[in-house]
Amino acid sequence: MRGIMEQAKQKRIVLGITGGIAAYKAAELARLLIKQGVEVQVMMTEAASHFITTATMQALSGNPVLIDQWQDDKGMTHIQSSRVADAIIIAPATADFIAKLANGLADDLLSTLCLARNCPLIVAPAMNKQMWSNAATQRNVAQLATDGVKMLGPVSGVQACGEEGMGRMLEAEALVRDILELLGKLPLSNVGRDSSRQSVAGVGMNPDLQKTQELCGINVLITAGPTYEAIDAVRGITNRSSGKMGYAITQAALDMGANVTLVSGPTALVPPQVAQTIQVSSAAEMFEAVQKNVMNADIFISVAAVADYRVAQPNEQKLKKNGGNITLELVPNPDILVHVAALPNAPFCVGFAAESENLREYAKQKRQAKKIPLLAANLAQQAIGADDNEIILFDDEGEHPLPRADKLTLARALLSHAAALYQKGKLK
Ligand code: C5P
Repeated sequence: MRGIMEQAKQKRIVLGITGGIAAYKAAELARLLIKQGVEVQVMMTEAASHFITTATMQALSGNPVLIDQWQDDKGMTHIQSSRVADAIIIAPATADFIAKLANGLADDLLSTLCLARNCPLIVAPAMNKQMWSNAATQRNVAQLATDGVKMLGPVSGVQACGEEGMGRMLEAEALVRDILELLGKLPLSNVGRDSSRQSVAGVGMNPDLQKTQELCGINVLITAGPTYEAIDAVRGITNRSSGKMGYAITQAALDMGANVTLVSGPTALVPPQVAQTIQVSSAAEMFEAVQKNVMNADIFISVAAVADYRVAQPNEQKLKKNGGNITLELVPNPDILVHVAALPNAPFCVGFAAESENLREYAKQKRQAKKIPLLAANLAQQAIGADDNEIILFDDEGEHPLPRADKLTLARALLSHAAALYQKGKLK
């Protein structure tokens, strides 16, 4: 990770700002990136200049801000700027600009640059929740993901219009962290470097950038992975689960400032270092670990694929084949999530549903049956073992789709939504 961050510091980006109120956050984003040694060329849409001035962005970036596609007499700014950039970051990206990107429109300098690019494009959406959940925006976002565009956010929270919901741009600190990580993975480019910037590159990663504060000081208990129910000394029953989503949620919660306890079934993953991790095998062990730790939890996120049944009498020794049929008696395991949600001082509970069909219908039923405020539903055949996923969140207000993204991005969006609901619940 450290190596990646060091490499990121030698990169040059175009920061594209489009016309939304979150444009003011682009100033902080530029400042933090430059502080980390990244060279920033700002390009704005005309609409963005109504929200933040070119003078501000020029002073922060130390480079003239580009807006007008006709200002350079050769008219080649869009090609030159993309050829010397290691990546283009659009922050904030409005619904309108996302629609343009998804459809390959190029009617101003920034959209023309994006169409002419030969470098990665990273987009941080920011808009009102209705605009975000509008079917057209969701189609466009899905198209961008298919086109290989990297989406960072949005997250849930209070919006400029006073409404609350999904659509807030990630805070500058969180964006910088993700951008540095992405830039660090790119090969070093050969473009000329401004040596005055290289001196800044020696500064270590600012620890303030490691965390956003949405879950600061909040105790989060997470279950992850499968459980393993022994049949005999060597055989068992389990669920297909890689643990990737639960571990991504653990990492995201840590990044957001939470104190995390992870109760993990058997997985091949290395748990994030700062989490207190309790390794378990069976559902009974997981239940016991959760019961021991739930008293301190503010939020409980039940990601584990807990086996619904265990063998009534597992054999201590390996069962020998005798050629005939054998019958296993299975007894139901306790539902850990239902138990926690029914506690007198229950933490804010988040459940997961992996379904192979009728996703929406089963997810809604499950949320009601388990009496939990928030449930994240995904299609089992898409989710298991994959690095990317697509999730729909269900809460009292309805459903909130999180478009296809890597599991850490989804984890962040889910936690941000959960944090907002949790804080709202505390105010009641
Ligand atoms: O009922 P189903 O197993 O589909 O519910 C899934 C949700 O319930 C997940 O959040 C899972 O972690 C949780 N669960 C549990 N204990 C069980 C079964 C499921 O906590 N025995």
